[in-house]
Amino acid sequence: MERIIIKAPDSVSAIMVGARWEAVTKLLPEKGVVIITDKNVFKLYGKNFPKFPVIRIVPGEESKKLKVIESLAGKLLKMGIDRSGFILAIGGGVVCDVSGFLASVYMRGLRCGYVSTTLLSQVDASTGGKTGVNLGMIKNVIGNFRQPEFVICDTAMLRTLSDDEYMSGLAELIKTGIIGDPSIIEMLEENYARVILRDRGLLSELVARSVKFKASVVAKDEKESGLRRILNFGHTFGHAIELQESFKHGFAVASGMELATLFSYNKGLIDKKVCDRVISLLKKYGLLSSYNMPSGIIEEFILHDKKKTGEYIHFVFIEGIGIPCVKKIQLTEVIDFYKKLKKGK
Ligand SMILES: NC(=O)c1ccc[n+]([C@@H]2O[C@H](COP(=O)([O-])OP(=O)(O)OC[C@H]3O[C@@H](n4cnc5c(N)ncnc54)[C@H](O)[C@@H]3O)[C@@H](O)[C@H]2O)c1
Repeated sequence: MERIIIKAPDSVSAIMVGARWEAVTKLLPEKGVVIITDKNVFKLYGKNFPKFPVIRIVPGEESKKLKVIESLAGKLLKMGIDRSGFILAIGGGVVCDVSGFLASVYMRGLRCGYVSTTLLSQVDASTGGKTGVNLGMIKNVIGNFRQPEFVICDTAMLRTLSDDEYMSGLAELIKTGIIGDPSIIEMLEENYARVILRDRGLLSELVARSVKFKASVVAKDEKESGLRRILNFGHTFGHAIELQESFKHGFAVASGMELATLFSYNKGLIDKKVCDRVISLLKKYGLLSSYNMPSGIIEEFILHDKKKTGEYIHFVFIEGIGIPCVKKIQLTEVIDFYKKLKKGK
């Protein structure tokens, strides 16, 4: 088991990778605990949950709403949970985002911890302290920073994920390798069969490396004022593709990473060998689907991107595997690159 500590300015969070999730009981207070999970996770693992009251939410993005936070807060009140209470989230990114946000606002803040049950949440969503809900179609606009006291990432739980959910999480793992830890890329290149078979030991090693990298970034920039931007590699194009093509998040990010890699090559930041290496890994894992997004959609999307500043955007490029670089470029440069690429196809 690896224990990775995230030290933010006013909190400490321990991420335990490779631990058995049932061991969570030892980390909980004796009373005042409420478990939040979703119906799928409860069906699979509920019988072994610690013996505390459980609230089940509807699985998926439709639970990331203020209305759900209000209803959950009402349930906590009815259960008599006061400021000494503790919220334990057991689920994927949705359950962790919703529970973390609730913990940050209920009675101005409760203690919380996560058992993170999807690959996406283990490598990304449950590390870093970002919590939040959506407002209509706009993702995560109402949120907060709240570090859970602990996160348990038991990779044995990933065996029950659907293939699509698993592969979608794998794309975020590849992203971490590309921007932060080349050893992740090497392991994914060399161990295809074990990755596809969801080998527990190998996955624990990969998740631990990913968490360590994200933790190092978050410790330097908890509130996303600079360095943390690199975590958005592939996401500028990826978000547009996700909305337009209704791809699952990881698959959209994979296509976004392909474009960001080609853009880096186009600007002379990487050579052809690096460019081909990234794209062939994405292909090897079947993460690149075809899409036909008109350049007008990219234009529309980039002009409304909440990460843009006036006429400019901080775009995440790479200068090599494990070497991200953020450049402030004109929005028109991104749009022109996509137009040129589409024309050439
Ligand atoms: N806070 C952050 O920093 C951050 C970062 C990235 C993504 N996110 C958020 O994470 C969310 C996506 O997370 P997700 O992909 O984990 O989605 P999710 O939580 O909706 O889980 C995906 C599906 O898998 C099921 N599931 C969960 N664990 C399972 C298991 N062990 N076995 C079988 N089925 C299981 C769920 O019931 C659900 O149907 C998005 O809302 C995104 O905005 C947050």
